[in-house]
Amino acid sequence: MCGIFAYLGPSEKAAEIVLKGLKKLEYRGYDSWGIAAEQENGEIVIEKHVGKISEVVTLGKELTEPAHLAMGHSRWATHGGVTEYNAHPHTTENQDIVVVHNGIFENYLELKGDLIKKGHQFRSETDTEIFAHLIEEEMEEGFEVAFRRACKKVHGRFGVLAMHKGEKTLIAARRGSPLIVGKAKDGALFIASDVPAFLEYTKDIMYLDDNQMVILADKTARFYDMETDQSLEKRLITIDWKEEEAQKGSYAHFMLKEIMEQKESLARAINSDTELILKAAEMIKKAYGTTLVGCGTAGKVAMVGEYLFANVAKKHVNVKFGSEFKSARHFLTDRSLMIAISQSGETADTLEAIEIAKTKGTKILSIVNVETSTMARLSDLVIPLKAGPEKAVASTKATTSQIAILTLLAYAVADRLKEGKQMLIEAEGKLNDMLNPRYEEHIESVADQIKGAKDIMIIGRDMNYPIALESAIKLQEVSYIHAEGFAGGELKHGPIALISEGTPCIIIAPNDEYKQEILSNAMELKARGALLIGVSPDNAEIFDIWIKVPSAGNASPIMDLIPIQILAYKLAVLRQNNPDMPRNLAKSVTVK
Ligand code: M6R
Repeated sequence: MCGIFAYLGPSEKAAEIVLKGLKKLEYRGYDSWGIAAEQENGEIVIEKHVGKISEVVTLGKELTEPAHLAMGHSRWATHGGVTEYNAHPHTTENQDIVVVHNGIFENYLELKGDLIKKGHQFRSETDTEIFAHLIEEEMEEGFEVAFRRACKKVHGRFGVLAMHKGEKTLIAARRGSPLIVGKAKDGALFIASDVPAFLEYTKDIMYLDDNQMVILADKTARFYDMETDQSLEKRLITIDWKEEEAQKGSYAHFMLKEIMEQKESLARAINSDTELILKAAEMIKKAYGTTLVGCGTAGKVAMVGEYLFANVAKKHVNVKFGSEFKSARHFLTDRSLMIAISQSGETADTLEAIEIAKTKGTKILSIVNVETSTMARLSDLVIPLKAGPEKAVASTKATTSQIAILTLLAYAVADRLKEGKQMLIEAEGKLNDMLNPRYEEHIESVADQIKGAKDIMIIGRDMNYPIALESAIKLQEVSYIHAEGFAGGELKHGPIALISEGTPCIIIAPNDEYKQEILSNAMELKARGALLIGVSPDNAEIFDIWIKVPSAGNASPIMDLIPIQILAYKLAVLRQNNPDMPRNLAKSVTVK
């Protein structure tokens, strides 16, 4: 979690550039923010506050003084509460060394104890603050050496960036958390957790890989191996991201924009490179065991994949959530395959699963949106989602693209790729029935009827069971209403006790072989007083409210999810929540 961004260059407005760029990284964390700048007289000035950086209009007077070097941070709290003291940047007592950090220094308590014994005093409860003091301890041979030695002392996954008063230099290191260097034509250098921070200034980037550090000074970026201290050559890569794709345009929120963009994003996924899909299918066919891995929504997509491979290709694949992967390592060999699913490609738990798999020689296929991500670069083969930037914390368009690609793969493994693609194209052709203002209005009226609910239950069967689980995630994260998804047949084994008069229950009832069974489950709920909201191609007498979805065969998980995405969005807005930045969450979960 957390966004890091720094600028070193000819502009005197370093702090303002950092403020603007950090706003684009706010999806990574929005509990608090802070910026440090080195003024022309060498003084370091710092401003930090609790709250969202997107709400900041102007910086305090000191930060608007001319400065060519600035760094900033937008925080998702891990160690220490959401307070101004715990906001980054953190410094030594004399404020000569300034640090921002993404990730966790796992051994910080031990290191902090040692530093306290040596007389260091701390102001925050964070793990980050120790890093400034560790550098200070080693300053005898200069900032570079001190930074390197500090890196060797800390354990865990991190991206860390520091400056030292008067040196006009930024030093960063990466072990697990992304950091990317940008280089503009005017010699300006940037370092950020993600490209959008500096996209308006340059598309020329260099990646910092794990266990590497970079020193930015005098218009030059020098890279080193953190372990051996050897210098490294880096290629400047020009990326083709479009700045406007990352803007809200006329939409009130990114979440709604991204839901509506599914017409285009799905078309791109369905038209994924056939050669690539066939190559990936070949890997699946050859593998002695395939495991789908993802977290949160991507984990639910993995579950949809399990059903797709079973139903379409009659093939068993395993599913593991990234955070629960470790026990599966015992079954991996160099003939196994892992399929990692992710929007960001930076989710720590999924990355850890990949790292474990790689130690076994297991091949990695990733289905990922951010093509420049760590996950993509760790993989043997990458199927890019091409969904475009997804900024809202709640994943929508990336999710449906992931399901579309898994559908293509299942059909390709069954040697029926053409048929699968045609089915998806037909489904995509029906998206206009849902992604239009009239449909949105209908769902808004449904949201209005249930906006005061304490609980919402969602049921589905087969491929739509994980869609019920995913629907619950969508509703929880933006509406803050307690929502739970169940397999239709499981309710009567316990959860039905939760139903009382008027509890809204969403019934996902596509035209498949389970239709009668799911409708029977709906009856069981109705008999206990539930308010039934049917998501189905046809109305059924028992539904109190009907949300029509196109009939779409094996593409029903995609179609059934879309109205629930819209419902979650509408509930968030009606309940005056910010759907783009839900409380307690961040877009990329880069800590374990
Ligand atoms: O970037 P990833 O797809 O790897 O992220 C995984 C989850 O953190 C993510 O899907 C999360 O559950 C979403 N906020 C759900 O909308």
